[in-house]
Amino acid sequence: MAQREQWGSRVGFVLAAVGSAIGLGNIWRFPYMAYENGGGAFLIPYIFALLTAGIPFMIMEFGLGHKFRGSAPKVFRSLGSKWEFLGWMQVLVAFVISVYYVAVIGWTINYTGFALNQAWGADPKGFFFGEYLGLTGSPMELGGIRWSILGACTLAWGVTWLAITSGVRKGIERACKVLIPLLFVLVLVLIFRVVSLPGAMTGLDFLFKPDFSKLADFSVWADAYGQIFFSLSIGFAIMLAYSSYLPKEADINNNAAMTVFINCGFSMLAGVMIFAVLGHMAHETNQAVSDVAGAGVGLAFITIPTAINTMPAPVFFGTLFFLCLTMAGVSSHISIVEAVSSSFIDKFGIDRKKTASIVCGLGFALTVIFTTGGGLLILDIVDHFINNLCILSLALAEIILMSYVVGLEDIRSHANATSDFTVGNLWNICLKVVTVGVLGYTFIMNVITDSGTPYGGYANADLIALGWSLLPVAFILSLVLKQKQAAPGFSNNR
Ligand code: ALA
Repeated sequence: MAQREQWGSRVGFVLAAVGSAIGLGNIWRFPYMAYENGGGAFLIPYIFALLTAGIPFMIMEFGLGHKFRGSAPKVFRSLGSKWEFLGWMQVLVAFVISVYYVAVIGWTINYTGFALNQAWGADPKGFFFGEYLGLTGSPMELGGIRWSILGACTLAWGVTWLAITSGVRKGIERACKVLIPLLFVLVLVLIFRVVSLPGAMTGLDFLFKPDFSKLADFSVWADAYGQIFFSLSIGFAIMLAYSSYLPKEADINNNAAMTVFINCGFSMLAGVMIFAVLGHMAHETNQAVSDVAGAGVGLAFITIPTAINTMPAPVFFGTLFFLCLTMAGVSSHISIVEAVSSSFIDKFGIDRKKTASIVCGLGFALTVIFTTGGGLLILDIVDHFINNLCILSLALAEIILMSYVVGLEDIRSHANATSDFTVGNLWNICLKVVTVGVLGYTFIMNVITDSGTPYGGYANADLIALGWSLLPVAFILSLVLKQKQAAPGFSNNR
């Protein structure tokens, strides 16, 4: 059997892991979450989630990938053949994410160009929903392909394909070694520029001013845990695949802690950048910061363009901002698609180029749906159910399996054996009790909320077709994939 590929260096691995973690979620989701959930007070549950779930879970995933030298299905199969399906479910969820995540990268690519002459004009909201997306009235009304979005998505899929077919060291590692340092430099340049704008400090004050009363609300804690899982790319096959390319003697615990801290540090930087801009915009338009802050997609594609219109040298900020989003998105997209490709390579022994071409080809074909006039509405539903049900339930299944069926001791000794610092009983408690408790409760509450009130006011039929069906379909497909004949060496670890 061919030797498993390896990262070229420790720095290369950490940059790739950080590249996966830092993504669209850090730049538009974190600042808004912090703002919504009590400003500076959100940092308390966020840091608590980072310490009790983020670092412990990352150590567990790095340990598992490193020990069993495989992608998610191989890791789960090595834990017991009946668990292979869980690995496939994570992979299928990652595949769905790769299909719609790239659509947003397509928008950021287009907006990098639009920023050159503020093509969104005086009405960024009307431009985004109307002229640009051609938004229809319902997710089932596709309304034709938007060709500029399709073109940008083709480019993004092309870059991902190139990185993955070029291999772990020559493709993924090389891409992240360029993208991630550049991303940090650009964000620092942008922060340096925006904090001196009039009103910027009011924005920061707003972001960091703690509203401690929010801490009594469990949903704030649930949001912090949800943000940690999506943002760190844990619980959906990615970090298992990436750590499977670590050399035998690689440090697990320290690499995991570094990845988590760098990612969360970047989220803070993004928060500072966004709220300084919003503060400036509020100042220029004589409004309160709370009236100008927008959520998710709206923040990046409506609020920020509106703010850019009020800035001196708008081209500078606009192009660099959307370039940053594009780079953060692309390095995450590469990792999501690698998690899928490596699973098929491991199970069926098909060569990397062929596998990546099939995965990217199929992914691209499905992305076309998200480039239509109904694309944003479909994306909204799929993303909601992926985050609120799929990732959460599969991360929960992984942690319950490890804590209560397989046992955490083996993987803890494995991680400690090669690490600069070791983890003790507290690590077990964080995973077994705290993370299982919070994730379990959050999952149940999410199911109750979504069953009681149709998400976003969409029709129930649309929510069933595009949201509720995701997990059952992934389950059925995972059983089919599990039954398929595996290549030799797929489960030789136990
Ligand atoms: N971790 C990636 C993000 O935050 C997927 O966007």
